[in-house]
Amino acid sequence: AENNKISILNSVYNRTDLTNVTASITRHVGRNLHLKNQHPINNIRKIIEKSLDSTTVKPFVKYNDFTPVVTIKQNFDDLGFPKDHPGRSKSDTYYIDDEHLLRTHTSAHEIECFQKMKELDNNGYLISADVYRRDEIDKSHYPVFHQMEGSKTWARENKKNFEEINEEIANMKKQLDQFENLTISDIDYTHEPNSVNCKQNHMNDEETSLLISHMKRSLELVVANLFIQRYSNKSVNGPNETPEIKMRWIEAYFPWTQPSFEIEVFFNGEWLEICGCGLVRELAYKNSGFTAESQMGWAFGIGLDRMAMLLYDIPDIRLLWSEDDRFLNQFKNNEGIFKFKPFSNHAVMSRDVSFWLNNPVHLNDFMELVREELGDMVESCSLVDEFVHKKTGRKSQCFRINYQHLDRNLTNEEVNDLHSGIELKLVKQFGAEIRN
Ligand code: PHE
Repeated sequence: AENNKISILNSVYNRTDLTNVTASITRHVGRNLHLKNQHPINNIRKIIEKSLDSTTVKPFVKYNDFTPVVTIKQNFDDLGFPKDHPGRSKSDTYYIDDEHLLRTHTSAHEIECFQKMKELDNNGYLISADVYRRDEIDKSHYPVFHQMEGSKTWARENKKNFEEINEEIANMKKQLDQFENLTISDIDYTHEPNSVNCKQNHMNDEETSLLISHMKRSLELVVANLFIQRYSNKSVNGPNETPEIKMRWIEAYFPWTQPSFEIEVFFNGEWLEICGCGLVRELAYKNSGFTAESQMGWAFGIGLDRMAMLLYDIPDIRLLWSEDDRFLNQFKNNEGIFKFKPFSNHAVMSRDVSFWLNNPVHLNDFMELVREELGDMVESCSLVDEFVHKKTGRKSQCFRINYQHLDRNLTNEEVNDLHSGIELKLVKQFGAEIRN
């Protein structure tokens, strides 16, 4: 009977056909790395908060302890996700029961934050939180990660607001001018009516441009403040080097913002997507109880784990969860950004598993089985071969699992045992037939 129940943070849920959350995932609920003192994710959060608070007279309201259990309505419906949006699928999202899931993004709290805005008389908020997504297994993907999200809103009919926005933009431009080696390549929004990235109907061109400018300068400052800390640190660069910080804007799509953009940074020889954003759609304000056409504002979301890995040079995402002193001590009494010193490199042992399948299995379902069995003892996992038998129509797949423990070396016998465990599970869960 116990098996029919799932308990998360003192609440108990009944399993349904939609349930796919597992113990290896719920175990992470409550770890709150974004609030853990002297932790890189917490450091990144604080730098972003400080940067954004510097743009405005009234500090942003901070929400850092929303529960990760939200409704399908909060995570998707209220934000205008189409019914067939891939993000809703069971292969991508951890469902708890027919109504609840583990939030896949901090935007799940956007509507409630807009609602609170009215009582608080504050037009800006920031959220940081753990988010959950089913995904592949490698050095930069973990089913739990952290996001920071924020938004700023103004009433459209109040002329004073336009003065305030203009003043803040001027102030931010001044701040940006102080960065010596900063280049930004900007793009306009699409002026063609009815395209995904055109302005919204209820706002005019002037309002749209003004808000986009406020949003972009705010986020350019965030990114500049993050990277300058890395670039000005002598442990990362030679004493005479101050590398250029290069950013560019590209178009994006999010169901609850329009137009939408993404900011990219040129780092280690490639362009990296850092942060998604856009002007909040009227739909989101209406779902929060505002009168039609009365509000205008912008919102953004940024991944904290990825930022931490980039800026500190943390080579494996599993390290962020480490309780090992060799990891944690490096962050003691230093909230700035510096180059992380890898402390161990235990052997990676590879094993392949090949099997026949009668029914197709989603890649993420295979990954989940591996996570459930191996936890953090798997460094990465990939599909190395796949074909369909001409006569029987059965599919054959071969996966390579790279075994590695972060804190110690695994023995051959251990890995063999673990690997047999995976084979058994494949047979039991997917009706696979192991090939030898
Ligand atoms: N929630 C989006 C993501 O997870 C980021 C985002 C937040 C985009 C807010 C626009 C506005 O990618």
